[in-house]
Amino acid sequence: MFAYRAALLYFRDDDSLAYEADGLLVTQADAQGVQRVLHVGPWSDRTARGVAADVQVQHYPGRIIAPGFIDLHIHYPQVDVIGSPAEGLLPWLETHTFVQEARFSQPSHAAEVADFFLDEMLRNGVSTALTFCSSHAASVDALMQAARARGLRWIAGRCLMDRHAPDGVRDSTERSLLETEQLIGQWHGTDRLGYAITPRFVPTCSDAQLAGAGELARQYPDVWIQSHVAENRDEVDWVRSLHPTARSYLAVYEQFGLLRPRSVYAHCIHFDDTDRRLMLEHGAAAAVCPTSNLFLGSGFFDGAAADRIGMGYGWASDVGGGTSFSPFHTLRAAYYVGREGQGKTGYSLSPRALWFGHTAGAARALGLEGVIGNLQPGCEADFVLLNPRATPLLERRTAQAQSVDELLFALIILGDDRVVERTVIAASARP
Ligand code: GUN
Ligand code: ZN
Repeated sequence: MFAYRAALLYFRDDDSLAYEADGLLVTQADAQGVQRVLHVGPWSDRTARGVAADVQVQHYPGRIIAPGFIDLHIHYPQVDVIGSPAEGLLPWLETHTFVQEARFSQPSHAAEVADFFLDEMLRNGVSTALTFCSSHAASVDALMQAARARGLRWIAGRCLMDRHAPDGVRDSTERSLLETEQLIGQWHGTDRLGYAITPRFVPTCSDAQLAGAGELARQYPDVWIQSHVAENRDEVDWVRSLHPTARSYLAVYEQFGLLRPRSVYAHCIHFDDTDRRLMLEHGAAAAVCPTSNLFLGSGFFDGAAADRIGMGYGWASDVGGGTSFSPFHTLRAAYYVGREGQGKTGYSLSPRALWFGHTAGAARALGLEGVIGNLQPGCEADFVLLNPRATPLLERRTAQAQSVDELLFALIILGDDRVVERTVIAASARP
C-alpha cells in the first residue's frame, strides 16, 4: 500500500473536475501486482477513512497529483521525422516518413528507438498511448518488449500497407494479416499490453487487406483498431477516386467492418454530420491531433460540431506529423484551434474540457474508462506529479491563480516537460 499527500486533480462520474487542494491518495496492489486506487479524497478525511494510520505517507507540498496523460495517436517510428516540413501530408509521407519507417526492419534500430520513445513519453507524463509501429513485425516486438519492461499499459500495432507505398515499407496482403493475428496472440493481454489492428489509411490498403483487417476485428472484439481518416484534402480526393461509390472516406472503413467500439480514427477533419453520426452510432472515437494538423497544414478539427452530434474524441500528439511529445503543447494547440477553427469566433475549450480529453475522456475513447485516466477508486494508479512552479514565469503566474481553472489554464499555456516532476506507473517492471 502507498499513500501520497498532495493536491489532487481527477474527474467525477459526471465528468466534472474534482480538485483537492490538500488531498490523500492511497493505492494498493491487486492480484497481478498492479497498484490500484483504494482511496482518493481530502487529507482531512484520513482518520475517518482509517487508511493513513498505519501507512507511511509521501508528502509533496506544492505539487499536484493528476492521472497520467493518454495519447490517442502517435507513431513511434517517426521520432526522427519530427520537424520535417513538406507541402502537405502526401509529399510528407513520401519524402520523410516512409524513408524513416523502412529502417524499422532492423530489430536493433527498432529497439533503440523504442527505448528512447518510451522514456520520452514518460518524461512528458504520458503513461498510455495508442501507437502505430511500422509495417515490420519486429517493430511491434521491440515496442511491446520495451513497454512490458517498464510495466506500462500500452497499445500498439503493426501498420498494414500493401499498395501505393515504396519498397521497404510496402507489405503483402496475406503475410500482413497472418502477422497481425500472430502478434495479437503474442501481445494482446500480456501483462498490461494491448494490440491494435492498424490499417495505415485507405490509400495504402487494398480492398483485400481492409477486408482481412475487418475480419480480424470481428474475431477479436476487444482488440483495438487504429487508422487515419479525412486529414487532408488531397488525401480525401484520392480516396474518392479509389472508392467512387462510397458515400464518404469514413464509409469505406464502415463497409469493411472497421468501425466499432475500440476503433480510434486520427484527424476526422474533413467530415460532415453524417460522418460524425456514423462515428457515434458505431461507438468509434476521434484522435484529434492539433500540432500535427497545424504543422502539415491539414485543417482544423471541428470540436463544436463533434459536441453537437455527441461524437467521442480526445487529444493526440501524432508525432512525427505532430511537433511535440508534451501533452501541454497538444492542449495549447487544441485551445488555439478551438478559437480559430472553422470560423466559429468565440468558441473554445475550457481548461477542464481540455484536460479531460487527455485523461478520463481519452480513456473513454479507448473503452478503458474506470481503468486508466482517472484517480477514482479502482483505477490503475498511473499518475503524474506536477510542479506548477517549475519555471520562474509559471511560479509567478500560478501563484496568482484564484481558481482551479486559472491554475490549469496557466499550466496549459505555459507548461511543458519541466512541469512533470515524476511519472509513476502502477505496475513494476517485468523482466
Ligand atoms: N496518414 C497515413 N499515414 C500517416 C502518418 O504517418 N501520419 C499522418 N499524420 N497521417 C497519415
Ligand atoms: Zn498519424
